[in-house]
Amino acid sequence: MRNVDDRSITAAVIEQLARCASPRVRQIGESLVRHLHDFVRDVEPTQEEWSAAISFLTETGKMCSATRQEFILLSDTLGVSMLVDAINHRLPQRATQTTVLGPFYVERPPERALGDLIDTREGPALFCEGTVSDVNGKPIAGAVVDTWHSDAEGFYDVQGKDGLSALTGRARFRTDENGRYWFRTVLPAFYPIPHDGPVGRMLDAQGRHPFRPAHVHFIIEAPGYEPLVTHVFLAGDPYLDSDVVFGVKDSLITRVTRHERGKTPGGHAVEQPTNLLHFDFRLADQQDGRLRRSSESSEHPASA
Ligand code: BEZ
Ligand code: FE
Repeated sequence: MRNVDDRSITAAVIEQLARCASPRVRQIGESLVRHLHDFVRDVEPTQEEWSAAISFLTETGKMCSATRQEFILLSDTLGVSMLVDAINHRLPQRATQTTVLGPFYVERPPERALGDLIDTREGPALFCEGTVSDVNGKPIAGAVVDTWHSDAEGFYDVQGKDGLSALTGRARFRTDENGRYWFRTVLPAFYPIPHDGPVGRMLDAQGRHPFRPAHVHFIIEAPGYEPLVTHVFLAGDPYLDSDVVFGVKDSLITRVTRHERGKTPGGHAVEQPTNLLHFDFRLADQQDGRLRRSSESSEHPASA
C-alpha cells in the first residue's frame, strides 16, 4: 500500500501481517499495532517527544544486568504485571491469592532445613511459620517453599556489593509430613524499588513515590497443584494503600505479633523473644486451574 496517512497506516501494517503462519502471533501483532497506533493518535507526540520515548526504552534495556531487571520494574509500575497475574490466576475463592513475582527472585535458592536461621544481616528477629494445604485444608507434605525478603534497611541481598555471591534472606524448604513450614529470619522493612534509573525518573515525572510495603515473598509448588507466587504483607505498614506496583490484597495482610519464649501457635519451641508471622497457604488444584483457564478462553474467543 502506498500514500498512507495518519488513518490508513494502521490497515497497511495489519495487511502485511496476513501472511503470518501462527494465528496467535498474528492476533498479538494486529492488536499491538491497533492499540499502539491509537495511542499515538491520542497523544500526538512531537518529534522530540517520540525521540525521548525511544531513548527511555533504550536506557531501560541498557540498565538491565544479572541483578537488575528494569523492564520488569517498568511492567510492575505501569500495573501490567498485576494485570497479567490477574488474567492468569482466576483461582477458587479458598485458594491463597497471587501477586507479583518482582525482580529479586533467584532461581535455585539455598536449600535449608526447617527451623534454620536464613538471614545473617542485622535486624529484629522474625519467626515465620504456617502450613501448606489444599483448598479444603488437607496438609500437603513435601511442598517446595521458596522465600525471600528485604532486610530491616529495605534491601535485598542481591542489591549488596557482592550481588549473587552473597545470598541471604532467602531459602528453599520442604514442608514436613503435616504440611508445616517454619524458619527464622529478620524482620523486613518497606523499601523503595530501585529508582536510580529510567523507571525512577518516570515515577518522579508522574509525581509518584517508589515504595512497596514490607512483605515476605513466597513461591510454593507441589505436584498436582497450581504453583503459587505470592507475598505476605505486614499489617500496619504505611504503604499498604499506595504500593508502587499495585500488589497488595487484603487476604495477604497479616499482623506480626510479639512472642516470648516457649511454644509458638504452630507448636515450635522458641528460645528467645521474637516477632512472629503465622500464615497458612492454600493451593488450588492444578486441574481446577486448567479448567478455569480453558473455559475462559472458550468464553472469550480471540478476535481475528
Ligand atoms: C519486590 O517485591 O521484590 C518487587 C516487586 C516489584 C518491583 C520491585 C520489587
Ligand atoms: Fe519484595
